[in-house]
Amino acid sequence: MHSWALTAALCALAVADCGARSTSGCPGYRASHVTDTPHGFHAALTLDGPACNVLGNDIPELTLNVTFDSSSRLHVHIEDLARAQYQIPDTVAPLDQGTGVDASSSGLRISLTHSSPGGLGFRVLRGGEAIFDTTGHPLVFEDQYIEITSHVPSGANIYGLGESPDWFRRDPANTTRTLWNRDAADPFRENVYGSHAVYMELRDGQFHGAYLHNSHGMDVVLSDGAIQYRVLGGTADFYFFAGPSALDVVGQYTELVGRPSRIPFWALGFHNCRWGYRSVGEVDQVIANYSQARIPLEAAWTDIDYMDGMRDFSFDAEAFPLADMQRQLERLHAHKQRMVLIVDPAIQANRSYAPYARGHEMDVFVKNADGSEYVGQVWPGYTVFPDWFASNVSRWWAGELDRFLDALPIDGMWLDMNEASSFCTGSCGSGRPSGEVPGLPWLTEQPHRPINRSNPLLAPPYAIHNPEAEISDKTIETTAIHANGVAEYHVHNLYGIMEARLTREILQWRQPNARPFLLSRSTFAGSGAVASHWTGDNSATWRDLHMSIASVLDFGIFGIPMVGADICGFMGNTTMELCARWIELGAFYPFSRVHNTKDAEPQEIYRWSEVAEAGRRALAVRYALLPYIYTCYQDAVERGWPVARPLVFEFPATPAAVDNDRQLMLGDSILISPVLVEGARSVSALFPRGLWYDWYDHSAVVGANANVTLAAPLEHVNVHIRAGRIIPVQHPAMTTAELRRGDFELIIAVDESGGATGSLYLDDGETLDSPHQWLRFAYKNRSLWISPQSGCYAVPRPLAKLTLLGVPGVRGVVVNGVPVACAVDATGNSTVLSALRINLYDPTHISLL
Ligand SMILES: *[C@@H]1O[C@H](CO)[C@@H](O)[C@H](O)[C@H]1NC(C)=O
Ligand SMILES: *[C@@H]1O[C@H](CO)[C@@H](O)[C@H](O)[C@H]1NC(C)=O
Ligand SMILES: *[C@@H]1O[C@H](CO)[C@@H](O)[C@H](O)[C@H]1NC(C)=O
Ligand SMILES: *[C@@H]1O[C@H](CO)[C@@H](O)[C@H](O)[C@H]1NC(C)=O
Ligand SMILES: *[C@@H]1O[C@H](CO)[C@@H](O)[C@H](O)[C@H]1NC(C)=O
Ligand SMILES: *[C@@H]1O[C@H](CO)[C@@H](O)[C@H](O)[C@H]1NC(C)=O
Ligand SMILES: *[C@@H]1O[C@H](CO)[C@@H](O)[C@H](O)[C@H]1NC(C)=O
Ligand SMILES: *[C@@H]1O[C@H](CO)[C@@H](O)[C@H](O)[C@H]1NC(C)=O
Ligand SMILES: *[C@@H]1O[C@H](CO)[C@@H](O)[C@H](O)[C@H]1NC(C)=O
Ligand SMILES: *[C@@H]1O[C@H](CO)[C@@H](O)[C@H](O)[C@H]1NC(C)=O
Repeated sequence: MHSWALTAALCALAVADCGARSTSGCPGYRASHVTDTPHGFHAALTLDGPACNVLGNDIPELTLNVTFDSSSRLHVHIEDLARAQYQIPDTVAPLDQGTGVDASSSGLRISLTHSSPGGLGFRVLRGGEAIFDTTGHPLVFEDQYIEITSHVPSGANIYGLGESPDWFRRDPANTTRTLWNRDAADPFRENVYGSHAVYMELRDGQFHGAYLHNSHGMDVVLSDGAIQYRVLGGTADFYFFAGPSALDVVGQYTELVGRPSRIPFWALGFHNCRWGYRSVGEVDQVIANYSQARIPLEAAWTDIDYMDGMRDFSFDAEAFPLADMQRQLERLHAHKQRMVLIVDPAIQANRSYAPYARGHEMDVFVKNADGSEYVGQVWPGYTVFPDWFASNVSRWWAGELDRFLDALPIDGMWLDMNEASSFCTGSCGSGRPSGEVPGLPWLTEQPHRPINRSNPLLAPPYAIHNPEAEISDKTIETTAIHANGVAEYHVHNLYGIMEARLTREILQWRQPNARPFLLSRSTFAGSGAVASHWTGDNSATWRDLHMSIASVLDFGIFGIPMVGADICGFMGNTTMELCARWIELGAFYPFSRVHNTKDAEPQEIYRWSEVAEAGRRALAVRYALLPYIYTCYQDAVERGWPVARPLVFEFPATPAAVDNDRQLMLGDSILISPVLVEGARSVSALFPRGLWYDWYDHSAVVGANANVTLAAPLEHVNVHIRAGRIIPVQHPAMTTAELRRGDFELIIAVDESGGATGSLYLDDGETLDSPHQWLRFAYKNRSLWISPQSGCYAVPRPLAKLTLLGVPGVRGVVVNGVPVACAVDATGNSTVLSALRINLYDPTHISLL
């Protein structure tokens, strides 16, 4: 008996559940001609009654194709027989095909069901449990509307589905998550810059996941007991992940959409940016003032201020002349610091502007339906938009980047406004004179245009919850046409990932052995393989400080682990206290950058003595931890594991962890418990069962799955080390280059059984073909084993110090059988052994005397 044999099922509950929806009268489908394939089966689907045509036209004939991609991933694809619906090309978002396994080797099973009413349904099972079950809910498959509904338990623990500023655990009874990339300043629970139709669910201590591969606008609605997808086109292309741990799910998802790309080590340093610097000289002062304040600064960023008339690839001749920018870059490099600049996709429509003239000649811009260039409005005025589908676009974009980077070889690029953002609705610049610069629309208060409801691309029958008058607002109109003949309607959510992918390829052509650093505002499933991300235009509020944790954790699920929020808040004036607390948290975002808007008061973290002190202390912890954080990042590269993790990923059986987004872990060993409340000088923080050691004074906290109140003076952030773990560290420094010249140290935090384990990944931090070294550490019974696991990178610095937490009474060490001299400092429960010189590339056994 095949596990997918048709079974009839009743749907008493489901009928009541779906009775309220207008699509409940839809007939659903009936499956026939179920045929085995090497790793699954396919079936023909036909409408199971008269078409309902509620939000478009029912497509009468579909194909269901089920493939067991691997032992932990199941692919269920329902597409139109004619294959006329738009599907994402492999070149845009390549997916892993899997090797294919027999149903019997899969951790997931599927069974088809049939109910009346409702028609065809399917259940995805892990063991005896249905992790996705559409039984009783009619499948609606129309040209502009697809609806699929699955049962989930009442009060389900669901994470993911974004991008949207929200608390980490989604409200299972009342969440409408809209996926339609939008330039919006982080409004609560609304759709913002990226689209990630992936979620994971925690049930009885185990996780599983589901991903819908579809580029169209959609709503994903959680109402008590159900998750419902309402999609504006394409196909129902689902992948299910068996878990069972959270890391397994993210690993299985990123295996499909692409593992995070490697980053240069320096990207883990601290970054400073603001919009509103008035000159190169002012940025020079900022760099000097960080140095003066003894706050590490790895990279100086400049926003659109450097440009001439805010045109890409140009320099303001007065305030940011190229020659001065070149000198600044040389000075930064001389101090082992870096420069990153912003680049927007929109190109000023101006025949005297060479990037436009060349792109026009090469025919690379998005078109109106009549074949003329589509002209929106962004910072430089009327602008055209590169069409990443155009056949000449890579040659043109490569030429522009070459000219720019040959003149100023910056270290990283920041891709902003790539939703793509446009300030007017429609092709507002069509027919305007070349080079005309209109006033900003929000200063001129124009009434919104009438919406053409007879054009189904402008006003699709189902209105997703995009909080604008129409879905074409703030972006390229949905009727605009790409070079492959496809309307923007279908590919809108792909604009940012396409820009980032091409830009990365070009940087790779320029420097084949380097690791590009790219930061992209707009993302899509798989963007982690091409770019890093920040959470966009947040506000300098306590609420946004708190919510930034959830946003950073979301991007761990989305496979983009290199992520952070604008420290101290982008919009609005921050305060000394908020900024101090924010750098204390932001020092532990995987991507750590302070940034603010032009109209707000300056907030470089040296501006207040308290913030500077908070920054020095928190960043000293970050920098010390960089060998550990880089190792965590390598786990992301190799296995997809998030760097910043919620407690629930590590402690799924701890009820209080389920909705905790007030703390975060780095990897599985470091717990950050920031203050998120104004005026607070203590923090109530969850400590899962086990011992935790204070980073600073090594005192132990005994975790009991309950809150512990910790002192949190203004300049202090609580950091704890999980017992049973070994943390590789280096001495904090002002730059990552200086840090890497220092010796290594290990913090060995023993658990109740007296043991600890850890690992360290090392390479040159710059090149793609660098040799590497993976080391494993194991401590037990007063013995430490250092075991190289793979690679031949000759670690240039020795291990000089061991900090043993929970190991009293040590008098000395024997290394590979030979007693060696070292300094011993035993205080209370712990012992610090220093002045060691142990190389880190040979197997080594260290025993304590
Ligand atoms: C089913 O999917 C597999 C892999 O995704 C593909 O190779 C095959 O062509 C598909 N078959 C049909 C009938 O669509
Ligand atoms: C559901 O969520 C919406 C949007 O966040 C909110 O306006 C509404 O009040 C919520 N309804 C309930 C019953 O909580
Ligand atoms: C840098 O510090 C100097 C001395 O405190 C101060 O005068 C100047 O305004 C600062 N400039 C910036 C851009 O921070
Ligand atoms: C058009 O581009 C040229 C060359 O970059 C520039 O000098 C000119 O100011 C631009 N025109 C406008 C109106 O921005
Ligand atoms: C590519 O650019 C060339 C000019 O360099 C132009 O002649 C040609 O038409 C363009 N090709 C396409 C397909 O747009
Ligand atoms: C509205 O859209 C329809 C369908 O594309 C088109 O035929 C019509 O001309 C449009 N009306 C206006 C006023 O633009
Ligand atoms: C920020 O502070 C400046 C100067 O005090 C003030 O002009 C501006 O209105 C403030 N902005 C906000 C959003 O409060
Ligand atoms: C633990 O502390 C958090 C944050 O202060 C609070 O929201 C939560 O209710 C506390 N839990 C318990 C069980 O006291
Ligand atoms: C611990 O080490 C000591 C001396 O090295 C040895 O005698 C003893 O058997 C070890 N105990 C265990 C449990 O391995
Ligand atoms: C010392 O370490 C033990 C575990 O090794 C722990 O139980 C105890 O609480 C610690 N004492 C202090 C004062 O930290």
